Amino acid sequence: MKFSSIAVISLGLLASNHFADAETIHTKVAILGGGVSGISAALNLTLNGMDDFVMVEARDILGGRAQNTKVGNTTIELGCNWVQGLGSNPINLLRQKYDLKTAVTDYGDLTYIDENGKKINGTAKNNEYADRYSKVEEMASLRAKSNQVDFSGRTGLSLAGWFAKTPIEQSIEYFGYDWEMGETPEVSSSVFAALNDEASYSSDFGPDSDGDLMNIDPRGFRHIFLEEAKRVFKKNDKRLKLNTKVKTVEYSKDKVTIHTDKDTIIADYAISTFSVGVLQHRDVQWKPEMPDWKLEGIFGFHLATYTKIFLNFPKQFWDETQFTLYGNPTSRGLYSVWENMNAKGFFPTGGKDNIFMVTVTQDYSYRVESMSDDEVKKELMGVLRKMYGDDIPEPTDMVFPRWHSDPLFRGSYSNWPIGELDQHHENMKAPLHNRVFFAGEATSKRYYGFLQGAWITGGEIAAKVNQCIKHKCPVSTYYPTLYNAKAKGSIIKREVVV
Ligand SMILES: Cc1cc2nc3c(=O)[nH]c(=O)nc-3n(C[C@H](O)[C@H](O)[C@H](O)COP(=O)(O)OP(=O)(O)OC[C@H]3O[C@@H](n4cnc5c(N)ncnc54)[C@H](O)[C@@H]3O)c2cc1C
Ligand SMILES: *[C@@H]1O[C@H](CO)[C@@H](O)[C@H](O)[C@H]1NC(C)=O
Ligand SMILES: *[C@@H]1O[C@H](CO)[C@@H](O)[C@H](O)[C@H]1NC(C)=O
Ligand SMILES: *[C@@H]1O[C@H](CO)[C@@H](O)[C@H](O)[C@H]1NC(C)=O
Repeated sequence: MKFSSIAVISLGLLASNHFADAETIHTKVAILGGGVSGISAALNLTLNGMDDFVMVEARDILGGRAQNTKVGNTTIELGCNWVQGLGSNPINLLRQKYDLKTAVTDYGDLTYIDENGKKINGTAKNNEYADRYSKVEEMASLRAKSNQVDFSGRTGLSLAGWFAKTPIEQSIEYFGYDWEMGETPEVSSSVFAALNDEASYSSDFGPDSDGDLMNIDPRGFRHIFLEEAKRVFKKNDKRLKLNTKVKTVEYSKDKVTIHTDKDTIIADYAISTFSVGVLQHRDVQWKPEMPDWKLEGIFGFHLATYTKIFLNFPKQFWDETQFTLYGNPTSRGLYSVWENMNAKGFFPTGGKDNIFMVTVTQDYSYRVESMSDDEVKKELMGVLRKMYGDDIPEPTDMVFPRWHSDPLFRGSYSNWPIGELDQHHENMKAPLHNRVFFAGEATSKRYYGFLQGAWITGGEIAAKVNQCIKHKCPVSTYYPTLYNAKAKGSIIKREVVV
């Protein structure tokens, strides 16, 4: 925080009078966006001895979707919260390096409240869901290995024999599925979800990688990324341009010209780390417009919206378990997953802060984003009274971010939709003229959605750009036209079909 405000001051001086040509900046590489992938790209360039770059970030602080604020005296995470996949996951290594305070989440530590506000034992149903979903993952991994076609999460769950009928069963499903993927099983890929999960939790980061840790450090999750950024940018570093919004990216075979709301940057190369949602919403202009094959890749992908709503109460009236599932009869999964932030091992208890957090996704997120805070609070209190009775106190505080409406993000994290091919994804991230390169969590086939996706793609793209500068750009792949695969399924014609 300190470091960023100082940088802002230095930029102020820069713009006002010190340099006659502050209007146009020449550099080798322009890194667009200062989130986790931007920081990683800048660090990779630096460690490779390449210092001639600038970073443009619209906000007054780095970190992007790693954002926190205070509820009462407690630091809460508005964006990413878990290190997902341990072992040699670079995010886990950073956690260790900076001794981040984390807690172990136990997704089985649950209280179930049915649609009548009655506590029930949902353990058997919840175990059944977990069982069925591992069948979906098994089927999906097998299909991935033999190059068979994808199927949606819903198709998979149904094939595995999972059918949610009652509101609490739907909440169990929502907790298991949407609360992770950010979207419904109907729209989600099974094959890519299984590969994504496998990569982070078992195959890529070594033997002890299966697990996650929730950040509860009062310095905020972003601390580890801000510290890494200090290895790149010294105090008053002119290369860091905070509070600067990219308006237009003009690219040609020779260079990239970036028009911001403050100045013009002429670069040999640019690395865009804008979220795929920002690219989809046309919040930044591209000149010339990106080619259709690339636009299709971008438009076809999904940036899910995942909204955590934090309520602070004068006292705790909910159960001690880490999570409470409510079988909301109004709508599947609506206000149904509540996390007790004062559970044992989470935030300190006994103080003034008693935080209960509920998560909504997609259409429910869009809906709360369009409502006033007071309207949302009223609606939530109505739900809590159905769960706990009328005798509960009003909250002292409520906080939630509006990720989807924010033109710097347009959502929370990406989810691979059913129908998106590997080749669409390659097209989405393919460079333009070997001048504009693309990084960020959504461009990671293995770790999309996760912090390690952002971190690893940032480093990889920087290494590619460095190769362009020092030698010759590496070969990139894209598919100008995509055709249906030739039917390779075994064709059997029989009189009697069994
Ligand atoms: C609610 C939520 C929960 C999450 N939970 C987890 C989790 O538990 N574990 C996990 O691993 N991951 C989680 N994630 C995902 C994780 O936060 C992201 O994968 C990661 O932070 C993305 O980093 P990035 O650099 O790719 O993108 P971003 O962080 O989006 O970085 C892009 C940057 O570009 C800037 N920018 C945008 N437009 C402009 C412009 N026009 N001009 C200048 N700058 C601009 C933005 O301000 C931003 O700083 C979560 C995300 C959210 C939102
Ligand atoms: C506020 O939180 C900080 C950090 O967790 C802690 O050190 C401090 O004692 C807290 N203050 C109050 C008044 O609770
Ligand atoms: C809840 O159900 C599970 C599985 O059926 C059982 O093992 C457990 O003992 C039950 N818990 C309580 C508190 O009854
Ligand atoms: C930069 O990233 C590349 C690709 O991930 C990696 O091989 C290389 O080790 C990184 N360089 C440094 C100095 O971190």
